[in-house]
Amino acid sequence: MKILRSATSATAIRPRSGRRVLVPTMGALHRGHGDLIRIAREAAGPDGEVVVSIFVNPLQFAPGADYEKYPRPEQADDEFCGNAGVDILFRPSVEEMYRSDFSVSVEEDSLANTLEGKSRPGHFRGVCTVVAKLFNILAPDAAVFGEKDFQQLAIIRRMVRDLNFPIEIIGAPTVREADGLACSSRNQYLSPMERQQAPVLQRALQEAQRLAMEGNRSTAAILNAARRMIEAAPLARIDYLEIVNSETLHPVAEASPDSLIAVAAFFGQTRLIDNLRLS
Ligand code: PAF
Repeated sequence: MKILRSATSATAIRPRSGRRVLVPTMGALHRGHGDLIRIAREAAGPDGEVVVSIFVNPLQFAPGADYEKYPRPEQADDEFCGNAGVDILFRPSVEEMYRSDFSVSVEEDSLANTLEGKSRPGHFRGVCTVVAKLFNILAPDAAVFGEKDFQQLAIIRRMVRDLNFPIEIIGAPTVREADGLACSSRNQYLSPMERQQAPVLQRALQEAQRLAMEGNRSTAAILNAARRMIEAAPLARIDYLEIVNSETLHPVAEASPDSLIAVAAFFGQTRLIDNLRLS
């Protein structure tokens, strides 16, 4: 596995034969990332190469959010990538990615205004900007993003469409722990009690899905049932719980097969997100 730290060296490794597939990450790699890498390997094919980027992107963290304390287990991540058969690991520094007078960014202006975008102003501008830069630096043919960050995936697809990046975007199903909690680098912040209660999010989403599949259409009624379940966990504090159209990400009054229920909730200081299609 090659480890590259500068954009210049990453650009210099082209040209190549076979497909290059990128898995952009912020490190603290876990089983969920392992699955993204496996999917990237399949998409790359026998002659292709898998590139993982690890960069904790300051631009997508609000002031006072967990940027400083975000886990950065470099050695464990290197080993993880080596064991997962990654061909190239791109690990740039902040100075490498952002000049001190950096002044151009990428902003999506429709899908980014709901859900995470409402709770975390500027977050998706940070995500789009860094992903656009990674696409330009690494020139992948395809890139894999997890469906746990459903809104991020939708926004990246929109960015690729609207800015004509010649890159296929592959969505990967959410990987879960045995008790249903979605795998996330932030799960390691949870205290034992918080960790015990966190799977309530997934149970509440499943209850919503069950109600919708039984023919309940009123999103208000479905959301009430899901909210009651989450509120029964004393350590959970809901940030948002919404049913939206999975294309527009705008809230809907009636659930339908293309609806998605999305939740963000705090357990102590730790903010977790999850989502589920209602079909
Ligand atoms: O999903 C993430 O880990 C990040 O938002 C991403 C896509 C790597 C951009 O920093």
